[in-house]
Amino acid sequence: MVQSCAEASPAKWHLAHTAWFFESFLLREFLPGYRVFHPDFAWLFNSYYQSFAAFPEKRLRASFSRPALSEILAFRAYVDAGIERLLETNPDPEALRRIELGVNHEEQHQELILTDILHAFFTNPLRPAYKPEAPEQKFTVNSAPAEPMEFVRIDGGLHEIGHFGSGFCFDNELARHRVWLESFDVANRLVTCGEFAEFIADGGYRRPELWLSDGWDAMQASGWHAPLFWSGETDAWRIFTLAGEMELARVKDAPVSHVSFYEAEAYARWAGCRLPTEFEWEVAARHQPVVGNLLENGSLRPLPQADSVQNQCEANHSAANCCAVENARRPLHVYGDCWQWTASAYLPYPGFRPLEGSLGEYNGKFMSGKMVLRGGSCCTPACHIRASYRNFFAPETRWQFSGIRLATGQSSAEETAS
Ligand SMILES: [Fe+2]
Repeated sequence: MVQSCAEASPAKWHLAHTAWFFESFLLREFLPGYRVFHPDFAWLFNSYYQSFAAFPEKRLRASFSRPALSEILAFRAYVDAGIERLLETNPDPEALRRIELGVNHEEQHQELILTDILHAFFTNPLRPAYKPEAPEQKFTVNSAPAEPMEFVRIDGGLHEIGHFGSGFCFDNELARHRVWLESFDVANRLVTCGEFAEFIADGGYRRPELWLSDGWDAMQASGWHAPLFWSGETDAWRIFTLAGEMELARVKDAPVSHVSFYEAEAYARWAGCRLPTEFEWEVAARHQPVVGNLLENGSLRPLPQADSVQNQCEANHSAANCCAVENARRPLHVYGDCWQWTASAYLPYPGFRPLEGSLGEYNGKFMSGKMVLRGGSCCTPACHIRASYRNFFAPETRWQFSGIRLATGQSSAEETAS
């Protein structure tokens, strides 16, 4: 039942809401004779679909002491049985499309359950570990140093952006369209905790010249002086993870996480770089294999990246062209660990068409005041992420696994001169 901040939701609510999705958008419409589990659940577990039903205020979801967990689990079992009956009826293709959407929706909420638990456990004075490390892990996975940050040149030109092919995608990944990019350089890995600690030690949170105006105001108003889940002082930072609290020295080579867009942007300026646009990110990622520290890894926290991508790539892909980014000497670490803030506002692509009916509210209505994140995190299933996937959050958001990839770009004039 715990809801430790307004953005998060209790695990019990996530369980009920994902069942609600299947009942509301599948069973009521496509299963003849279906009777809803409970008439109040249609609005009680509605998240934000205004055209479907009313819904309670999000920040008060922790007050749902009733219905009890046992009733929520019964609701899920009831809906599961309904979906199985529906699948036996040779359902309409639209019903199958919505089942696929419902599965992807549930995967998103499974990731949110973990991020919400992390925040809840951080605010618990006992700071419990959700998944304590096995003793042997403490001396293996954490000892790998970060590989040197290198920048990979990506050639400019006219590039196709957006989903293509017959696989599933969300409506916000379409329409595929062309974008002109100048040549740019993108970092081969994410910024680490140790590197971010240097930014803090250099007065990063006290130097207005590094910050966007809105970011400076947000930082001042919220009292940020380090990423979320960092506590202690400079030189003695402790970082809370789903595996418990760790000293900076143990995780200094792991990607920094739980920074807002504003902190990512300020760090990039401090480092003499910038954040990539979502289009640059997609072009850099599109030939890369979906490997990395994703949910299946089981770590549930960002890890040092030394050679892990190279090793997984060689193990999973024999063809040399699986890593065929132009001019790349080795694969980029593009997936997993942390969603990566981009410099791009979350906007509709040319030709974007929201889904029909209430499901049109799934993505499209949030295309204002949000920034795009790419790449998935240590809590994202590998089957859920792809190069065209667009996550989005308000720029001050910090409770997600959100990290920093750097980019630089040379002007055409500089290239010509060189
Ligand atoms: Fe949802």
